[in-house]
Amino acid sequence: MSGHVAILGVFVADTTYRAERQPRMGETILGRSFALGPGGKGSNQSVAAARAGAETHFVSRIGRDTFGDMAMRIWEEAGVTPAVSRVDEATGAAFIFVEASSGDNAIIIAPGAAGGLSPADVEAQAKVIGGAAVFVTQLEQPMDAAMRGLELARAGGAVTILNPAPAAELPDGMLALCDYVTPNESEAEALTGIAIRDQASARAAGDALLAAGLRRAAIVTMGGQGVLYHSGTRSVAIPAIEVGPLVETTGAGDAFNGGFAAALAEGRDPVEAARFGCAVAGLSVTRPGAAASMPIRAEIDAVLSRL
Ligand code: RIB
Repeated sequence: MSGHVAILGVFVADTTYRAERQPRMGETILGRSFALGPGGKGSNQSVAAARAGAETHFVSRIGRDTFGDMAMRIWEEAGVTPAVSRVDEATGAAFIFVEASSGDNAIIIAPGAAGGLSPADVEAQAKVIGGAAVFVTQLEQPMDAAMRGLELARAGGAVTILNPAPAAELPDGMLALCDYVTPNESEAEALTGIAIRDQASARAAGDALLAAGLRRAAIVTMGGQGVLYHSGTRSVAIPAIEVGPLVETTGAGDAFNGGFAAALAEGRDPVEAARFGCAVAGLSVTRPGAAASMPIRAEIDAVLSRL
């Protein structure tokens, strides 16, 4: 298989505050730093896939405003082709708290213009989606738009990936449209009721998703513990790839998903594609920012060649 990657999702501007801890209600604390940069899970995944070498098309909706201009700039720099409508609404933003000691984050996202993505907007990009080798979506835009994207992708013969983030209850029939589902620990627990503590519990969650209709495999991402690929008959623990000191984990899941999609679109075996995704994520956490932290292909190849 080879061909393009189509990603449906959200762009927002990330406003990132690095501090020792989160403020309590009614409290003001001094932070260490602030940064403004491109974010949104779908857009981050598109940047990751394009920098990894895939022809990448991003389906979304943004405003005719400064944050919308920021989106156009990062896509142009990364080589992402926008399949995007610009509307007279504000582009969204995310509040990101990064804990200074660990680099871990807590996020509030307001999708703005992308929150108005409708099934009709998705249908307007039917050629891009149906003609893709690999289609990816997440759950930051409305659920009915995600569902329509998955339907069009499957009808066109694309391999489909659902990154179920943020966690939400899936409508009937959605899992049956997905070849791969890529939850993190808390999303896997929200989908299956199984608390993810180790590989055995991740495997049990994978089995539950397969029993509920998932087509090929669950890939549970577990941060520093790596990922578990589980297809029922093939279960592989892929260790996290550490390439340097951890700076910030924002966008690490997006790095994995974008890299995984790009590698699948090249025709790689899914376990190898997941390893490729781990290399992309391993590089991304050594840098600040979300989209800004995505590595280029030469860096990914260098990491993989050292394994
Ligand atoms: O996955 C990280 C992303 O989640 C951030 O860029 C933020 O915008 C939220 O969408």
